Amino acid sequence: MRGYVLTRYGRPDAMELREVPTPRPGPGEVLIRVRAAGLNPIDYKLRQGTLRAIVKLSLPTVAGSELAGEVEAVGTGVTRFAVGDRVFARVDKSTLGAFADHAVVAETLAARMPDGLGFTDAAGLPLAGLTSLQALRDELRLAKGDRVFISGGAGGVGTLAIQIAVAMGAQVATTASPRGEQLVRSLGATTVIDYRKEKFTDVLGDYDGAFDLTGGQDLVDSFAILKPGATTVSVTTTPEPATARKDLGKGPLFAALFGVLSWKIRREARRHGVTYRFLFMHPSGTDLETLAAMVGKGELAPVTDRVFPFDRIDDAFAYLEQGRAKGKVIVEM
Ligand SMILES: NC(=O)c1ccc[n+]([C@@H]2O[C@H](COP(=O)([O-])OP(=O)(O)OC[C@H]3O[C@@H](n4cnc5c(N)ncnc54)[C@H](OP(=O)(O)O)[C@@H]3O)[C@@H](O)[C@H]2O)c1
Repeated sequence: MRGYVLTRYGRPDAMELREVPTPRPGPGEVLIRVRAAGLNPIDYKLRQGTLRAIVKLSLPTVAGSELAGEVEAVGTGVTRFAVGDRVFARVDKSTLGAFADHAVVAETLAARMPDGLGFTDAAGLPLAGLTSLQALRDELRLAKGDRVFISGGAGGVGTLAIQIAVAMGAQVATTASPRGEQLVRSLGATTVIDYRKEKFTDVLGDYDGAFDLTGGQDLVDSFAILKPGATTVSVTTTPEPATARKDLGKGPLFAALFGVLSWKIRREARRHGVTYRFLFMHPSGTDLETLAAMVGKGELAPVTDRVFPFDRIDDAFAYLEQGRAKGKVIVEM
């Protein structure tokens, strides 16, 4: 079968399309005939080697974090799926494998695709959708009537996060350039700040939470627009001690290291009387079922920017890495 293989850490040519053996499902796993796979910034960050200390990969390995397709075979003990089921999944972080004609996934990480959704749309939901759900529901604990700021609303994560926040009854403010403004408004954002012309700190105040998708100065500035006691959840750059314990299951050494790395950011948060949390999302079939139900109720719809044929996945990455995508970039097998 074809697989897009991460051969080493480095520049784009470190990933290449090659013939690789078709995997076989072990106990509790399903073999999926992949129809489409979503691209994510984490795929090129893994290639660059920036996450090497956190995500241990055994190279060479077939890359790719999320997929949609049909179950072609099931391993022993599988109870939730049968051959022919249309499923989607955020695959295991340490084994990857979504950029291929076939992939093996633990049944606990997959869910049935929402009815009426095509493979290319479903393939873009798992990683960004789970990240948004886990940030807004589990970390910010958004409630009806809350006001939330989501930076970078027009990208793969932001387009889903806005819809999920709105479905939870929150009011959403976001940053976008004029190229993304119409899109984020159509998804339910009520306040849209053109980040190239205006600082969001000049417009927003007394917010109940912030979801940071752009990092850098935006992250630190987000503390100034929150109510005392509120939280900014970031997914972009700097892990903190809870990331080590809660998200990565690591011991005190990692917690201490992340404590040092995030010290300045946490100090700035404390100065504003708010909390900084860095979330590393976790794959979950159960949470995917929640997202599928939201799609079924019309609360959530994937936003697909471009679909490339699988043999043009290099071009798909070149496009994603420009950082200008509106919604998701997908490859179709
Ligand atoms: N920790 C985790 O578990 C986790 C999970 C998922 C994602 N992430 C991270 O979350 C970040 C966002 O991911 P993504 O998939 O949404 O990225 P993306 O799709 O590549 O984001 C691109 C979008 O961001 C907008 N943008 C760029 N700079 C901006 C700025 N300064 N202010 C406002 N908007 C800006 C661009 O709009 P314009 O072109 O119009 O400016 C474009 O539409 C990435 O760093 C990713 O690695 C982390």
